[in-house]
Amino acid sequence: MFYSTDKNDHGLPHDPFKAIIAPRPIGWITSMSASGAINLAPYSFFNGVKSRPPMVMFASEGRKDSLEFVEETKEFVCNLATWDLREAMNKTSASVPHEVNEFELAGLTPAPSKLVKPPRVAEAPCALECKATQIVQMKGPNGDPRDNYVVFGEVIGIHIDEKYIRNGILDAAAMKPIARLGYRDYSVVTELFQMTRPDELKR
Ligand SMILES: Cc1cc2nc3c(=O)[nH]c(=O)nc-3n(C[C@H](O)[C@H](O)[C@H](O)COP(=O)(O)O)c2cc1C
Repeated sequence: MFYSTDKNDHGLPHDPFKAIIAPRPIGWITSMSASGAINLAPYSFFNGVKSRPPMVMFASEGRKDSLEFVEETKEFVCNLATWDLREAMNKTSASVPHEVNEFELAGLTPAPSKLVKPPRVAEAPCALECKATQIVQMKGPNGDPRDNYVVFGEVIGIHIDEKYIRNGILDAAAMKPIARLGYRDYSVVTELFQMTRPDELKR
């Protein structure tokens, strides 16, 4: 089948786009407003952008609290969403008023960050402390502004729960990170496999 996205005439009961860009890692974003309100919400239009120094991005469909809080204070934390934390992560996606602290809503523990003000999720095995570098409003092909915003941030500090470090390697399968697909689908990492890049074989 083929369909054009201006008509979205795929004929399916639900839009399949997100099931194609899948699985997507989940950036579970903590942010803080200028007045000190704390926010926590999952974003699966999230990814790493580069590694040295590391940078991440998340994208807001519309002007959500996380975007507005980061605009105000230019800092955020990406917490790793895992199988054990799936229900809590889901609770933090509820549309709630500005002033509601989703840590309380989901029964999570805020732990102080070291280099930024927004707290991290103590229960998460990893957290990335970030300074926002650019907030970009998306445009359509003709340059018309869209109500979509991408927040880029440089990772300035990284927390790792050392119980997941085995023989010097961070054991992703043990942390069981979850990822978002289409519809109501998620996946969980429980198995890994290795491949060697052609360039490495030459060495
Ligand atoms: C797993 C998951 C991933 C999500 N990813 C996104 C996303 O990438 N962009 C977005 O705008 N909303 C996304 N949402 C919805 C937001 O989490 C939801 O709108 C939330 O209320 C936003 O919170 P905030 O206003 O406190 O930032 C996602 C929800 C879930 C459960």
